[in-house]
Amino acid sequence: MDGQLETLDIAIVGPGAIGTTIAAALHEAGRTPRLCGRTPRNELTLDVGEERVVVPGPVHTDPRQAAVPADLVFLAVKATQLHAASPWLAALCGPGTVVCVLQNGVEQVAMVRPLLPRDSDITPSVVWFPAQSLGDGLVQLRGEPRLTLPDTPACGRVGTALRGTRCTVETAENFTALAWRKLLQNAAAGLMALTGRRSGLYSRPDIADLALAYLDECVAVARAEGAHLGDDVPGEILTRFQQSPADMGTSILTDREARRPLEWDIRNGVISRLGRVHKIPTPISDTIVTLLAATSDGPG
Ligand SMILES: NC(=O)c1ccc[n+]([C@@H]2O[C@H](COP(=O)([O-])OP(=O)(O)OC[C@H]3O[C@@H](n4cnc5c(N)ncnc54)[C@H](OP(=O)(O)O)[C@@H]3O)[C@@H](O)[C@H]2O)c1
Repeated sequence: MDGQLETLDIAIVGPGAIGTTIAAALHEAGRTPRLCGRTPRNELTLDVGEERVVVPGPVHTDPRQAAVPADLVFLAVKATQLHAASPWLAALCGPGTVVCVLQNGVEQVAMVRPLLPRDSDITPSVVWFPAQSLGDGLVQLRGEPRLTLPDTPACGRVGTALRGTRCTVETAENFTALAWRKLLQNAAAGLMALTGRRSGLYSRPDIADLALAYLDECVAVARAEGAHLGDDVPGEILTRFQQSPADMGTSILTDREARRPLEWDIRNGVISRLGRVHKIPTPISDTIVTLLAATSDGPG
């Protein structure tokens, strides 16, 4: 099965910024996926610099239309949309289906596995590229598409599907550490959503101190979860923000500006939740989480 590209039936659930990028990569290689979303569209468009890739639709919006399960499902809804998208998983997953979760966070398998039939397989991933939805099915890709997956049989099918496309798939023995490192980056970026400011924010000495203290808490929790992260990780993450263009944003800030629900729980809440499990005090995280939750969900 994994070697027979021409017969691989692939579906994208959540054809937004990340889902459209993967759909376009597959379409360019002649492996056009089924598109399963919330808003009906005739096609999706990906802009990459001067290049434009149009992925033929339609974007299906009724899971009852998914007559047969797929071999491979890329799940790219936001974590806040997972529950509403679960009928798609029920419709598209059958014996042997592999679901590749394209979301932020380190809880992808824990959150998605209960929504799948027992005989489906699942792989988490780290999504390394930035892409932005500009509305009406148009997405701007802002980096080289790249995914990292743990080295498992399920990952083999993802690698096969994306072989020879513009999206690179890597496997990593130290997947847990990589996923946590990305999570820490996302956690620190939560300060942008709270302040309504972009990367320039991290050049303030008081914010730099806060970010470092917060990241130290995050590292303690990550290590308790089995991620091998060095003492220098908080400093490296902070330096990256400080060296980024001052106007570089983050998706959680974009969501705040658009008054959409924030992925605060998978990006920040997870630190406090797992800190409690391991009896690690996380006072800075707890404050940040309370403020992000209120920013996202109100009331008021
Ligand atoms: N964008 C990035 O640069 C980036 C980078 C790394 C990781 N990530 C992570 O990747 C994940 C996806 O993010 P994104 O930026 O691609 O989000 P996005 O652009 O908002 O895309 C989400 C897509 O899911 C669709 N959707 C919503 N509810 C649905 C439902 N019930 N059934 C089916 N589809 C539904 C949305 O439809 P509508 O068109 O109706 O809104 C939209 O097309 C997130 O966890 C994010 O944190 C994103």
